Amino acid sequence: MLPAAGGGTRMGLARPKQYLPLRGRSLIEWSLAPFLESEWIDGVVVVLARNDAEFSRLPIARHPKIVTTIGGAARAESVLAGLEAVAQRTSAFGEVYALVHDAARPCVAWNDIEKLCDEAADEHGGLLALPVSDTLKKARKGKVAGTVDREFVWRAQTPQLFRVDLLVQALRECDERGLAVTDEAGAMERAGYKPRLVRGSESNIKVTYPEDLRLAEFWLAQQESSP
Ligand code: CTP
Ligand code: MG
Repeated sequence: MLPAAGGGTRMGLARPKQYLPLRGRSLIEWSLAPFLESEWIDGVVVVLARNDAEFSRLPIARHPKIVTTIGGAARAESVLAGLEAVAQRTSAFGEVYALVHDAARPCVAWNDIEKLCDEAADEHGGLLALPVSDTLKKARKGKVAGTVDREFVWRAQTPQLFRVDLLVQALRECDERGLAVTDEAGAMERAGYKPRLVRGSESNIKVTYPEDLRLAEFWLAQQESSP
């Protein structure tokens, strides 16, 4: 499932970043590609903003695996809407897993997705992530207020893999308690689960600022020359 209902405010352009051109396609088409190509994935729900005018014009919009639905103001709302669409389309609700992947991560490698599915398909689920390499400082008013032990800090990426029923329940609970979560693992943690950290790749960047587009282009070119 791809949440793609964000407006891309940090990008500073009128057009949402998922539709920006990148090596001959739109960014979201790159993000979707590995999921559409895999025989292990039955369907892909793409969550769109209510006023989205671009997705339906893409060549992949009529791909038989794709269904679209409308998201909300926060990412967690969009993910919940997407999961509800997944649940509606599956019969064996209890044992269905969903991979949630940011539409803004066009360089994810299938190998990493496969590794995540191999290592994290249980009730705790898991996510691609990377250990932090810089020394981390806590800040207070522009001054150092302490050093964070790097050994315990990883950067969360997507996809994140969870059982659909458990993730829906966890996200609903957060919503009811007014807890803001920025990723699916955050909701699962609050529900008492311990999602597995599966080591991903540096290339799986989230396009957030304008300079990230050049970096995404670089990684896609690398992947093309050494598939
Ligand atoms: N997303 C979503 N619904 C929202 C907010 C975000 O589906 N209400 C999606 C985005 O489309 C993106 C992913 O979640 O694919 C990660 O979010 P982010 O990188 O923050 O994208 P935006 O919210 O679009 O960007 P910004 O925060 O700069 O506005
Ligand atoms: Mg955002």
